[in-house]
Amino acid sequence: MHSSTDMAMSWSLLLPFALALVASASHAAIVEHTFNVGNLSISQLCQPDRIITAVNGQLPGPTIRASEGDTVVVHLVNESPYGMTIHWHGIFQRGSQWADGPAMVTQCPVQTGGNYTYSFNVTGQEGTLWWHAHFSFLRATVYGALIILPRGGAKAYPFTKPDKEEIVMFGEWWNANVFDLQQMALLTGIPAGPADAYTINGKPGDLYNCSAPNQTHMFEVRKNETYLLRIINAALNTPLFFKVANHTFTVVAADACYTTPYKTNVVVVGPGQTVDALMVADATVGRYYMAASPYDSGIPSGPAFSKTVATAVLEYAGGANTTSPPALPQLPEFNDTDTAHRFLSNLTALVLPGKPTMPLAVDTRMFVTVGMGVADCQPEQTLCNRSRTMFASSMNNASFVPPRSTSMLEAHYSNATAGVYTRDFPDQPPILFDYTADASNNATMQYTTKSTKVRTLRYNETVEMVLQNTRLIAKESHPMHLHGFNFFVLAQGFGNYNQTTAAPQFNLVNPQERNTVLVPTGGWAVIRFIADNPGIWYMHCHFEAHLDLGLGMVFEVQDGPTPDTSLPAPPKDLPQC
Ligand SMILES: *[C@@H]1O[C@H](CO)[C@@H](O)[C@H](O)[C@H]1NC(C)=O
Ligand SMILES: *[C@@H]1O[C@H](CO)[C@@H](O)[C@H](O)[C@H]1NC(C)=O
Ligand SMILES: *[C@@H]1O[C@H](CO)[C@@H](O)[C@H](O)[C@H]1NC(C)=O
Ligand SMILES: *[C@@H]1O[C@H](CO)[C@@H](O)[C@H](O)[C@H]1NC(C)=O
Ligand SMILES: *[C@@H]1O[C@H](CO)[C@@H](O)[C@H](O)[C@H]1NC(C)=O
Ligand SMILES: *[C@@H]1O[C@H](CO)[C@@H](O)[C@H](O)[C@H]1NC(C)=O
Ligand SMILES: *[C@@H]1O[C@H](CO)[C@@H](O)[C@H](O)[C@H]1NC(C)=O
Ligand SMILES: *[C@@H]1O[C@H](CO)[C@@H](O)[C@H](O)[C@H]1NC(C)=O
Ligand SMILES: *[C@@H]1O[C@H](CO)[C@@H](O)[C@H](O)[C@H]1NC(C)=O
Ligand SMILES: *[C@@H]1O[C@H](CO)[C@@H](O)[C@H](O)[C@H]1NC(C)=O
Ligand SMILES: *[C@@H]1O[C@H](CO)[C@@H](O)[C@H](O)[C@H]1NC(C)=O
Ligand SMILES: *[C@@H]1O[C@H](CO)[C@@H](O)[C@H](O)[C@H]1NC(C)=O
Repeated sequence: MHSSTDMAMSWSLLLPFALALVASASHAAIVEHTFNVGNLSISQLCQPDRIITAVNGQLPGPTIRASEGDTVVVHLVNESPYGMTIHWHGIFQRGSQWADGPAMVTQCPVQTGGNYTYSFNVTGQEGTLWWHAHFSFLRATVYGALIILPRGGAKAYPFTKPDKEEIVMFGEWWNANVFDLQQMALLTGIPAGPADAYTINGKPGDLYNCSAPNQTHMFEVRKNETYLLRIINAALNTPLFFKVANHTFTVVAADACYTTPYKTNVVVVGPGQTVDALMVADATVGRYYMAASPYDSGIPSGPAFSKTVATAVLEYAGGANTTSPPALPQLPEFNDTDTAHRFLSNLTALVLPGKPTMPLAVDTRMFVTVGMGVADCQPEQTLCNRSRTMFASSMNNASFVPPRSTSMLEAHYSNATAGVYTRDFPDQPPILFDYTADASNNATMQYTTKSTKVRTLRYNETVEMVLQNTRLIAKESHPMHLHGFNFFVLAQGFGNYNQTTAAPQFNLVNPQERNTVLVPTGGWAVIRFIADNPGIWYMHCHFEAHLDLGLGMVFEVQDGPTPDTSLPAPPKDLPQC
């Protein structure tokens, strides 16, 4: 392992090679970066220095800024001791399916000392997205923002042009090595413990028992100016409430899709989700806390979570008393599902000419349970106590395991799927039952088995999926993320889904469009998307702990009729296993 001085030197040598070409107003540009992934020595929470995995020695990693229509090229150079892949969360990857990133789904990890160039366009997308490692728990420290401006710049926003923009990116910090945590969770079948802190732009803030001056992110504002906050939840396992004392928000976008302006004093953001909100600095000149606190949706109780609050400080220029403590917002209770649901269910799309509209005809209907369960210890789980079963999670009672020898996209492309995956992911659970009743939470219903199943879709078919949370082990609000597409959220509610009562509530006019939906705890959500992007697309819970336990499935979308609608050949430098 390198010493920290060696690393500091190699970073200073490599950083100048990271270049970003700025888009000209009228032409699509190439936005190019080099991501050197390696060890970074850092002290958080006044603990001794820790070695973490980070991009270009930064936490969070570098921000990518592009304009709609640009091509983003990122050279990933893996100098870390672990395998590495990067997922460009929310990017459609049309024509660049091999750049999506999830380990063993679209690519083998880049080995230590290896490199891979991700290249994709950001056509037809604008707003706040992000990127993160998609291997082990490494996204805990390998993540950053990906901002796509409109082609015409900020003046082309469909809302008041802000005076300034700020990235507000939440994370979760462990004092322990997160790769080791994941390995131990896998070997034992016991999920890793809660984070030691939540962070805002990499810093926990000063409500933790540590007063280092560099642990709090500062935002400076000017009286009466309007700020566009690009809020991103990069935390591994925790949805968060976000408030700023004495300030309110107008939400204008979520998951890089514009929304009807929505006024609120609290933002709710699940892992994987983003929210763009305007905030006017209209309070008395002073200092205010921006605070992120956990939303715990577990009923009767979910996994342990850190009952702490991350803060940053909003400080007005010109005259704020810097010795008086900032005002703290009144935060919702950790289990305030009413507040979470009010925010999440009230967002609607801003319907704009030329933007995708809701498909009204449906080709394939799926009813999919999402939730927890148990499974037998697997052979590779050498520390698993074989006298008991271990936690598992599943969709339609199939608990997903990624293949080991080759990626699913390579198997799909070369038509060599035998031994890699099977095409039998079911359209409904094997048993129809009272999904949310306490009485259903018995050993028989909890039991699930491991498999690698896909649902094959014809090119261009419209899929409607009901996501139904269960009471097995615990009800929880799972952030379900779909790769390769946005989907429309037609309706959501609590209890068991009932088509007769739900269908009249469907929003067929301006449903919110997202890439990640927080399915209400003990409830359901209905989504629709058009499978017009051939390839292999992961759909999974964005709680890293649940992903590891199998809460995922994969869509295999067949080629369309033309070369343009078909999966291209893999790039020459695609990493091999
Ligand atoms: C804060 O500064 C100290 C001393 O320079 C450094 O060791 C530590 O890594 C820094 N922590 C963060 C979170 O930047
Ligand atoms: C880029 O965007 C266009 C328009 O959506 C698409 O046709 C093309 O295949 C995309 N991908 C690449 C790699 O050029
Ligand atoms: C990337 O890997 C190739 C093949 O191993 C190697 O030739 C090249 O030097 C590497 N580039 C960098 C920047 O490490
Ligand atoms: C802020 O706006 C208020 C109301 O319009 C005005 O009275 C005040 O002078 C403004 N302050 C500054 C510093 O611009
Ligand atoms: C902030 O809001 C609180 C509660 O609404 C109020 O008591 C306090 O006076 C406000 N502080 C400032 C500086 O406006
Ligand atoms: C600043 O705040 C401190 C602590 O609340 C207080 O003692 C001091 O008088 C304040 N200074 C001014 C100029 O208001
Ligand atoms: C939330 O938790 C508190 C205790 O922390 C409890 O009194 C309250 O009933 C809970 N609310 C809900 C809706 O579960
Ligand atoms: C939002 O949704 C809730 C139901 O959860 C509803 O009571 C409320 O009126 C809605 N509207 C707004 C503006 O919050
Ligand atoms: C894929 O392989 C199977 C089995 O070898 C074969 O029957 C099938 O025709 C192949 N499909 C394509 C599209 O090549
Ligand atoms: C377990 O729950 C299911 C679904 O509610 C039910 O059909 C079954 O009878 C229950 N089994 C036992 C042993 O309680
Ligand atoms: C996709 O489906 C839509 C609606 O059914 C249809 O209008 C369009 O022509 C189809 N596109 C292709 C390439 O098949
Ligand atoms: C669904 O709702 C309808 C109308 O309220 C009701 O008649 C029906 O029994 C419900 N179905 C189930 C399975 O509960």
